Amino acid sequence: MMRSLLFANWKMNLPEESFQEFVAAMRDLPPAIEVAIAPPFPFLSEVREAIGSADIALGAQNCAEKGSGAFTGEVAPSMIRRAGGRYVIIGHSERRTLFGETDEVIGRKIRQAVNDGLAPVWCVGEDEKTREAGVAEVLLETQLRGGAAAAGELPAELVIAYEPVWAIGTGKTATPEIAADAHRIIRRTMSQLRPGLTLRILYGGSVTPENAASLSAQEEINGFLVGGASLTSRKFKPIGAALAAAAGSTKKVD
Ligand code: PGA
Repeated sequence: MMRSLLFANWKMNLPEESFQEFVAAMRDLPPAIEVAIAPPFPFLSEVREAIGSADIALGAQNCAEKGSGAFTGEVAPSMIRRAGGRYVIIGHSERRTLFGETDEVIGRKIRQAVNDGLAPVWCVGEDEKTREAGVAEVLLETQLRGGAAAAGELPAELVIAYEPVWAIGTGKTATPEIAADAHRIIRRTMSQLRPGLTLRILYGGSVTPENAASLSAQEEINGFLVGGASLTSRKFKPIGAALAAAAGSTKKVD
């Protein structure tokens, strides 16, 4: 059985405490959950050092779609791995909307990341207009099918984050029912695209210590991708505790 995943996406921010303090606070979460931290690129090695022998994974927030070469400003997945990274967030909605990443680009990044030994955390999610128009499901399927087509062969294990754009950084969280529904759609689509896939689906979008327990109670939710509330262990740790409490009871991850 795979562990639930609690993933910190610091974005272009640093936590209010030192890396050492942050890691120390997260160390005593129960082993039922896996913790991962994605700092900005220049801090990968420093965070790796702060993690030391703790059971905490390191990730990056983006990567290039190529292995190496004349791509000024880009960072190859193999370089992230060399800095101690295990995960890479791909296709975050901020990358999609602010930096023009398409499903095709995202799929190529997934392919390169997997080739270079990183585990992608593939983000999908609908915007508010799409949800209001009642076609969130169609968009999710389009994102998954488009990304998968460009990625080619998908690995046997994958992490997908469902992040409704209207919930990211807005304080508006998806209800547990909306999230569970979207997760079921994602799981169903992926089982068609990659039979036999071991899939963990994270929820992301204004996760807080206050709403973490009710979201965690949904068996479809296998972890969280946390932005704002991952910038202090005061908030991030209780989210992990809520996830661990639910993981200890009814969680099913296949
Ligand atoms: P948020 O961000 O928790 O601040 O809403 C989540 C994310 O964008 O990954």
